[in-house]
Amino acid sequence: MADANYSQDAESGSWKTVCGVEDIRIGEVKSLMLDGKALCLIRAQDAFYCIDDTCSHEDYPLSSGEVDFDSCEIECYMHGSIFSLLTGEPQNLPATKPVDVYQVSVVGEEIRVLL
Ligand code: FES
Repeated sequence: MADANYSQDAESGSWKTVCGVEDIRIGEVKSLMLDGKALCLIRAQDAFYCIDDTCSHEDYPLSSGEVDFDSCEIECYMHGSIFSLLTGEPQNLPATKPVDVYQVSVVGEEIRVLL
């Protein structure tokens, strides 16, 4: 499925291919490095999410945490802060700052992220 906003959104950033659609299974959480940035890519049943892979509380990877696909949230495995995959906002302490959220687009067989 191609994202209709693909070319429009590209004006405010740069779309980068992170992997192929077949490289991530439904329900999988993947840690990726792209342009020196650690990203956490998540594949739900019918959507992809991409957030910073570094917790805003301390320097631990969110990709090691557990995803709740019903609420679209991920829980940091270290101290338990839960972050929205849609907004990056923490839902509980100890984290108080959001993590960055990136738009994801599927173009053909490629997954692209707007950085
Ligand atoms: S490092 Fe993530 S909540 Fe503390």
